[in-house]
Amino acid sequence: MAQFFDKFSNDYKTLLDESLKLTGFDTSYFPTAKIKTLARLFPEFGRQPIKILDYGCGTGSLYPPIKKFFPQAIYQGTDLSDKMVQEAQALNNGADVFHAMKSQQWRQGAYDIILAANVFHHIPHTEHVSILKELRSLLTRQGKFILWEHNPWNPFTQKIVKDCVFDEDAVLVSPLQSKRLGRKTGFSKMRIVFTTFFPKSLAFMTVLEPWLEWLPLGGQYLLVAENPDSEK
Ligand SMILES: C[S@@+](CC[C@H](N)C(=O)[O-])C[C@H]1O[C@@H](n2cnc3c(N)ncnc32)[C@H](O)[C@@H]1O
Repeated sequence: MAQFFDKFSNDYKTLLDESLKLTGFDTSYFPTAKIKTLARLFPEFGRQPIKILDYGCGTGSLYPPIKKFFPQAIYQGTDLSDKMVQEAQALNNGADVFHAMKSQQWRQGAYDIILAANVFHHIPHTEHVSILKELRSLLTRQGKFILWEHNPWNPFTQKIVKDCVFDEDAVLVSPLQSKRLGRKTGFSKMRIVFTTFFPKSLAFMTVLEPWLEWLPLGGQYLLVAENPDSEK
């Protein structure tokens, strides 16, 4: 069945660049910035042969920075859109790490990190909990689930989403909704980390981000959630 993102797979980067104009950054900035933030939040994973699942990997833009900041990580990516998966392979030298949703390969957990970056606002909200439950079952005992989302409380984010052609289907997920979803899924030890505060013209202030994680005005945020088992 054709998926919504199939029609954007060939010019995804161009369309994303267009929608990001307001920030002053282009698409090359955000994947690295995201994974740099993850490496800062989880320094213990930086030098270990961990397993990472990139759920809704799109064109695989997070794969190169993951290889850089988590050099020993074993990466697997999957996406609902087969065309996005094919594009991810093509853009990453045919790397055999991107799998169609129907493949069983990415379902061979257990993952230390499962990351869903800017994916859940494209998924009907009625499907969230069942998908999260499956992802939760693929985590190791100490594994971290990261839901990375646009922050609907930031007016610039709202504008960017409104103007972005492939966000036509988007229904943003607020930090409070994320936490509620996490609770329904059975996650524990949840925390919200706000990020992406500054446009390119103020990029020198990005060093302040670790002190602003509590401030609900970041353009994006992460829900970090763990299995209750990890408390034992
Ligand atoms: C905005 S893109 C983000 C891609 C990538 N995570 C990134 O950060 O560059 C959203 C992706 O989510 C995928 N997607 C939508 N619904 C999905 C679902 N139910 N399961 C997995 N992926 C899904 C789309 O096909 C698309 O590739």
